Amino acid sequence: MNERILVTGANGQLGNEMRRLAEGANAECFVFTDVAELDITDLQAVRCCMSENRISVVVNCAAYTNVDKAEEDAGMADRINHQAVENLAVACRETGATLIHVSTDYVFQGTGHLPCREEEPTYPLGVYGRTKLAGEKAIEASGCRYLIFRTAWLYSSFGNNFVKTMRRLTAERERLTVVFDQVGTPTYAGDLAALIYYVIESGKYREHQGIYHFSNEGVCSWYDFAKEIAALSGHECDIVPCHSDEFPSKVKRPAFSVLDKTKVKQDFDYQIPHWKESLVKCMDELN
Ligand SMILES: NC(=O)c1ccc[n+]([C@@H]2O[C@H](COP(=O)([O-])OP(=O)(O)OC[C@H]3O[C@@H](n4cnc5c(N)ncnc54)[C@H](OP(=O)(O)O)[C@@H]3O)[C@@H](O)[C@H]2O)c1
Repeated sequence: MNERILVTGANGQLGNEMRRLAEGANAECFVFTDVAELDITDLQAVRCCMSENRISVVVNCAAYTNVDKAEEDAGMADRINHQAVENLAVACRETGATLIHVSTDYVFQGTGHLPCREEEPTYPLGVYGRTKLAGEKAIEASGCRYLIFRTAWLYSSFGNNFVKTMRRLTAERERLTVVFDQVGTPTYAGDLAALIYYVIESGKYREHQGIYHFSNEGVCSWYDFAKEIAALSGHECDIVPCHSDEFPSKVKRPAFSVLDKTKVKQDFDYQIPHWKESLVKCMDELN
């Protein structure tokens, strides 16, 4: 690999999966940073880090990801998900580097019944989705070379996520209610990291730009997902389906946010594993 790759937010779920992939042959091509080494809200610091390390590709894994907390912390969510992303885009435009950024299914309203395509109208329902959409728009307006991967329901063996919570709760409790009226597709962060690594290593990131949807294959509700996690954990917990209104929340979440992945599969000639197959991989790591 000839690229010099900066990974920001590298202590998060996706960032750690990128670290794991980079441990192999191309380790010397990567510079991993999280907020302590590089706070992406600081444009000068971003410029410095990129020029010192002669960066040609930035993989932005940094984000404000707490969807509920974002409702009361809109300023900070906007700084990280929008303004800081603009910083990266500006610095990439100035240096000719490519920005590979990650966005979310929460840019959609989720009232449809068919998998969402990239060009469909956006309509975020809360602060998190609005700030992530503003980040996308800032990249598009910046004039830098970019790829944006919108993903959904991200989990891994790193950090906190639904898989780890359900694994713990189904061990502790005899009965658990989980919503069945929100439907989407889980994404193993290791699979998204593998796609990002592949588009860089193959050089295909130079052939395409724009927004792409990426999750695992298949469709399920949070209830189905929880049942599968309990089964793979060998836990006997009785999991009961319920409606979202039984869990009052400040944030409205998209009811149907299955992402259509035709474009990523065609443009990058890429095969995506089914969510159940990837869940087994993650559970094996956790068990
Ligand atoms: N998690 C999901 O279910 C989900 C779903 C759809 C899309 N996504 C998107 O996928 C991407 C990766 O998500 P993830 O779950 O891997 O995120 P994550 O685990 O929350 O990691 C984000 C990382 O960014 C760091 N960070 C925060 N502010 C920063 C700053 N100013 N400068 C540098 N680093 C900073 C965080 O540090 P602290 O922890 O110290 O704040 C954390 O280490 C994000 O763009 C997210 O929006 C996630």
